[in-house]
Amino acid sequence: MRDKIVAGNWKMNNTLEEGITLASEIVNMVADELTDDVKMIMCTPYIHLNAVSKIIGGAEKVSLGSQNCNDNLKGAYTGEISVGMLKSVGVEYVILGHSERREYFGESNDFLAKKVNTVLEAGLNPIFCCGETLDIREKGAHYEFVTNQLTESLFHLSADDFKKLVIAYEPIWAIGTGVTASKEQAQEMHEKLRAHIAGKYGTEVAEGISILYGGSCNPKNASDLFAQKDIDGGLIGGASLKSRDFVDIGKSY
Ligand code: PGA
Repeated sequence: MRDKIVAGNWKMNNTLEEGITLASEIVNMVADELTDDVKMIMCTPYIHLNAVSKIIGGAEKVSLGSQNCNDNLKGAYTGEISVGMLKSVGVEYVILGHSERREYFGESNDFLAKKVNTVLEAGLNPIFCCGETLDIREKGAHYEFVTNQLTESLFHLSADDFKKLVIAYEPIWAIGTGVTASKEQAQEMHEKLRAHIAGKYGTEVAEGISILYGGSCNPKNASDLFAQKDIDGGLIGGASLKSRDFVDIGKSY
């Protein structure tokens, strides 16, 4: 069976103090309320990671993620953070290829292929984001565009490495806009992505990969989305900044 995952992407929000409060609330609520087998991941800004790691401690069902890393293992890269540093504070997952990094920081499919290798080399798990703009969808080119993101950034991997990935489909027009993809639109894309993976790595690998949906996912729409056969959870932006909403999304299966 595939892992059910709800990952929160805090983006560039929260002071350290606010982050500590949020993380503590989430860890406590998950312990008290979450009965299903769901992995909740908090992807915090770098400066929160060490403190949040301590708050998570040995908590079941809660893991720590980063929102980025440098593509090199170490060296003279002023201001950057390496995968080894992330690992040393208890990070298990690294978001890669978020559309905001693609757009504002020019991260290309080729460059992301290198980052994926670096994350895997450190023994961490990439949460690899893909997704199309509204313009691409309206032209009817969205399946080709998104499957190509996977091909160019991921299909050089061995099957064993590919199995360590989590994929997140995030249509750019749905991120932070309040417009969610319909459950049918999301399911269709997830099915296409799984078929694309099966074409390269076979059905067993494809059936084992968790594919998350992201884009204005909230406690109201999460259960409909998560009930789709190829949707294994969510990557949550805005709603991950409120402990009640984030944990309620975790309870939406
Ligand atoms: P959103 O962001 O939930 O605020 O739309 C999702 C994301 O960017 O990961």
